[in-house]
Amino acid sequence: MPQYRAAIIGCGSIAGLHAKGYEGVEEVDLVAIADPVDEALETFGDKHGIAARYTDFRQMLREEEIDIVSNATWHRLHAPVTVAACAARPKAVLCEKPMATNLGECEAMLIAAKRNQVKLAIAHQRRFNPVWTEARRLIVEDGAIGEVRHIHAVGGQGLLNDCSHLLDMMRYVTGDPTALWVMGNVERKTERFERDVPIEDRSVGIVQFDNGAVGQLLQELGGRNYQGGIFYGTDGVIELDEQKIRLISGSSGGWEERRPEGEDPSVAQVRELVVWMEGKGEHRGQAENARAAIEIIMAIYESARRHEVVSIPLLTHSNPLEVMIESGGLPVERPGPYDIRGFLLKGEAMWAADSAST
Ligand SMILES: NC(=O)c1ccc[n+]([C@@H]2O[C@H](COP(=O)([O-])OP(=O)(O)OC[C@H]3O[C@@H](n4cnc5c(N)ncnc54)[C@H](O)[C@@H]3O)[C@@H](O)[C@H]2O)c1
Repeated sequence: MPQYRAAIIGCGSIAGLHAKGYEGVEEVDLVAIADPVDEALETFGDKHGIAARYTDFRQMLREEEIDIVSNATWHRLHAPVTVAACAARPKAVLCEKPMATNLGECEAMLIAAKRNQVKLAIAHQRRFNPVWTEARRLIVEDGAIGEVRHIHAVGGQGLLNDCSHLLDMMRYVTGDPTALWVMGNVERKTERFERDVPIEDRSVGIVQFDNGAVGQLLQELGGRNYQGGIFYGTDGVIELDEQKIRLISGSSGGWEERRPEGEDPSVAQVRELVVWMEGKGEHRGQAENARAAIEIIMAIYESARRHEVVSIPLLTHSNPLEVMIESGGLPVERPGPYDIRGFLLKGEAMWAADSAST
């Protein structure tokens, strides 16, 4: 029998994975949804058989008794919607990544969760991917490649989007070390945005972790953008993506391939949330881990702004990329704002208008 009532705020593409998570855990019942765009609300509500539909998420929080709130809105709404959700005192909030668009917003979310005794997790769901978890076990528990010295990853769509997963991967797979310092650079000659947040055209970031490993992240540089990376150790190498691990070490006698299987990450993420809510364990996606990824991203931007190595903890609470743009530090050479996620926009009958004009 379900014991916990869940609700989703934001009924777009990623909300489907939240629904899948709730539908896959028997203790949870998805009972209400909110989205100001009728088309999104009705399509999602019909697909998942949810009767309680709200165009105002605050009204939903007032009128429904909710134990778990998903925040599946765009980046800029992660902080304000999470703070409002925490004020309604559910047992847990599961917010989409990136946790926020700057460290100040992260702090506001953490404070709101703490004051209202809400468990706050961020949906870096690849922490529940069996491949990434097996790689962590091999590296941290078995010492399968010795001490990790270097981590390589290639991302795209700006540091806050795909790359928040990749920086989280660097930490998760190596046992959640602390970043000590960061150096980075960015190029932004266009007016590029991603889900309403300005992003760079290209960037590079180097992170020194306290376990001795150095992470290198290339954004829109250096080849194929994928969710995975290469971990170089003193006694071997692990290369992983979302499906498989390739391992070579001093004792492996050549490359080995492993394809570990396990529960769907979206379901496993909710299952562990229930355990955490019941005080029986931790949640590997708890917000402090997601904050650490945002801190590294903001430190890369701050390093580019100051042209120097930036120590962690980072002192600025703003988004240094936005500061650089506003202060003229990144002059646009190819003007004309565009959002690489503009295709996600629904409502205002824009599709009908488009088709009528063609
Ligand atoms: N974890 C992952 O792997 C993953 C994958 C994709 C997207 N995401 C994250 O999920 C978030 C949403 O992305 P998406 O692709 O689903 O976008 P989307 O545009 O498909 O969905 C966002 C929805 O939020 C709704 N919304 C806007 N304002 C709202 C409000 N005030 N109250 C309620 N709903 C509101 C929009 O109408 C829209 O339906 C982003 O932050 C993105 O980074 C994460």
